[in-house]
Amino acid sequence: MTRFLPPLVRDAFSRHLIAMHVNTLILGAGAAGLHCAAYAGPSTLVVDHAKTAGEKIRISGGGRCNFTNLGTTAANFISQNPHFAKSALARYTQWDFIDLMDRYKIAWHEKTLGQLFCDDTAKDIIAMLLAEVENAGGEVWTQTSIGNIRHDGAQFQVALKRHGQAQVVTADNLVVATGGKSIPKMGATGLAYEIATQFGLAVTDTRPALVPFTFSDEKFKPLAGVATPARVTTNDGTAFDEALLFTHRGLSGPAVLQASSYWVEGEDVSVSISPDFDLASALKAGRTTEGRKALTTTLAKYIPARLIDFLTADLKLTGNTGDLSDARIDAVIADLHNWKLKPSGTEGYRTAEVTAGGIDTNGLSSKTMEAKAQAGLYFIGEAVDVTGWLGGYNFQWAWSSGYAAGTAI
Ligand code: FDA
Repeated sequence: MTRFLPPLVRDAFSRHLIAMHVNTLILGAGAAGLHCAAYAGPSTLVVDHAKTAGEKIRISGGGRCNFTNLGTTAANFISQNPHFAKSALARYTQWDFIDLMDRYKIAWHEKTLGQLFCDDTAKDIIAMLLAEVENAGGEVWTQTSIGNIRHDGAQFQVALKRHGQAQVVTADNLVVATGGKSIPKMGATGLAYEIATQFGLAVTDTRPALVPFTFSDEKFKPLAGVATPARVTTNDGTAFDEALLFTHRGLSGPAVLQASSYWVEGEDVSVSISPDFDLASALKAGRTTEGRKALTTTLAKYIPARLIDFLTADLKLTGNTGDLSDARIDAVIADLHNWKLKPSGTEGYRTAEVTAGGIDTNGLSSKTMEAKAQAGLYFIGEAVDVTGWLGGYNFQWAWSSGYAAGTAI
């Protein structure tokens, strides 16, 4: 399918494709790149080294893609410049993407906390985005590797290799949408940061985010599989109330994944078990209704028994419920609400849902995502130093930043 492409320029001797020109070349056929292509105009080519477009969309949300969040605001994103995301998020909102889904009759539902998922399969979203690109007259090349990139003063020249054949594509606009470093097995690379550096843009420190914590002594191994409601607070005071899950290697679950984006290596986190349950009243009532029972037995009515067993020695959960003084109840609850833990690290980019940090937003226009240092060069999506919370925010950033660049071109 080569609707917009100009006649191929062939070398008279080898008859190999040597050059082609497009108005816009987009590197990366993920969420941001595909959505950008839907708005960038007919002479748009999207290239990606993966076998198929939109791989992360396909596997996201357990195959149903948590594609946006009803409550999206700039406050749900981490960036050195917390204002940067505002403009793009305001001009292409969660409601705009919902409209698009509705136009394609893709059924969706809210699961929890404003998180929207496909009723059926995330593949519907990929098909929708590819249809949008095709309707706009654009084209997607997968299994295409990206080589040298330069700007010759008039246009970009990008060396590509497709089906074993080297070719050069020239473009008036170059959009970098190759994402972050998360999950190298899925094809993630640091290409966006290399291109940014080549064109004189700064890149902030990057780190795995939305990622489980690990503990070198594997002390939570006996608790693997236990889940409990918790509040996880990092040293900067950011707190998330959601489920916490113990794993063989450490801690996971939404509350932990959220906190990991704010965690600084070497610091503690504070875990509050069942923060919203009125344990004080339950224990005080227990003094009369089950006074002869062990404190651990009463606690296990409200908190997973394996977790209580695990905490018994550390928190000295000894004696009978009936013997508890008010002060002792307060002390037990204070311990359960401020359990200090020091992760030794995280599971890293191998499993991180996103990469925090990235292209320094100081080098980009917040309205168009264009690089200030190089006209016609745009950075969108996860590659940029804008990292969303868990819950559909990262895809919303991909849609919004892709739209900002696509409509500016
Ligand atoms: P994305 O990573 O999607 O796309 C980049 C593209 O560039 C890829 O297709 C890649 O192959 C290509 N590429 C990279 N380097 C290249 C190179 N050197 N040459 C050629 N091509 C190259 N978010 C959310 O909001 N809701 C959710 O439910 C989930 N769930 C989820 C699950 C899992 C397991 C992961 C790993 C991540 C999520 N996310 C998520 C995060 C979300 O997937 C992510 O933020 C977006 O996909 C980012 O979109 P981008 O288009 O910026 O990058």
